[in-house]
Amino acid sequence: MAIEKAELLQKIEAAGSLEELEVLRVELVGRKGTVTERLKAVGALPGAERAAAGKAANVLRVSVEAALAEREVALRAAETEAEFAAPFDVTAPGLKPALGHRHPVSVVLDELVDLFWQMGYQVAEGPEVETEWHNFEALLVGKDHPARDMQDTFYLEEAHLPRTHTSSVQIRHMLENKDELPIRIVAPGKVYRNEDEDARHSWSFYQLEGLVVDRGISLGDLKGTLETMLRGVLGDDTVLRLRPNFFPYTEPSVEMDATCVICKGTGMVDGAGCKLCTATGWLEMGGAGMVHPQVLRNVGIDPEVYSGFAFGFGLERIAAIKYGVGDVRELWRPNFKFLEQF
Ligand code: DAH
Repeated sequence: MAIEKAELLQKIEAAGSLEELEVLRVELVGRKGTVTERLKAVGALPGAERAAAGKAANVLRVSVEAALAEREVALRAAETEAEFAAPFDVTAPGLKPALGHRHPVSVVLDELVDLFWQMGYQVAEGPEVETEWHNFEALLVGKDHPARDMQDTFYLEEAHLPRTHTSSVQIRHMLENKDELPIRIVAPGKVYRNEDEDARHSWSFYQLEGLVVDRGISLGDLKGTLETMLRGVLGDDTVLRLRPNFFPYTEPSVEMDATCVICKGTGMVDGAGCKLCTATGWLEMGGAGMVHPQVLRNVGIDPEVYSGFAFGFGLERIAAIKYGVGDVRELWRPNFKFLEQF
């Protein structure tokens, strides 16, 4: 009995892996294991032998189980040690996390806001769902005014609409700040038009509105500001053009154009008409003008004392010009191959 126990313990000690040890465990103390069978056999012995045999079998079981547990600890420790001892290549390249970056329209917006910030402007905001009055009437676009057709509009209930332009923020800002002139703001935001999409138009886009109201503001101030702004964001070689236009809320009104980045102002690409600028060589950047005296009156500012200029342009178009994007619709497609270029 004693010899057999020593043999068993030796076998356990010799197990070279956790798998070998598991096989041994089943062989010895499993349901049909040698030690288990020995314990079961005690019941069949004559009464006189039972006590001693039972005790011996139990002692054997306890020793075997202790040896199994001890060997398991040792084998696990060896396994861990081997893992740490394995050669580790500290020069192997790490896994790069995929980092996103700012959208080209955000980049352009941040640059513009920064430019205007340096010129002393503050950033103003207004709601995307506007009243018809803030979006149109206060800007002298009455219900029957033909200028309503300039902006195809989605209408909501009760004289509300998704704003068609950020010019509504001019009205809100002047109403709130008419007693604290001068005003110098830019107002970025999303606008909505019931518009058929093409390379230059989409039903929803970003605008940046600007408004200055002070004593003695002139068209010259407007021109200098627009020039500083467009050259700052598109580069000093950008050619700008102002031409007369009409907006009900400005008098006079101008349209600002920049040379097309695709055809460089020629209107032609590979012998065909340039698609981005529809072969004109110029890209319309947006509108501007001197704030109409009646608009000032509508918000309680005296046009005999104060004058102002305003402008509004599309950020996608500036991004398209800056990065040479032929189709503004690309900017909002979930096309990462495209967007990752910027
Ligand atoms: N609101 C005009 C548009 O969406 C752009 C515009 C024109 C804004 C003239 C102005 C302005 O502030 O003075 O097309």
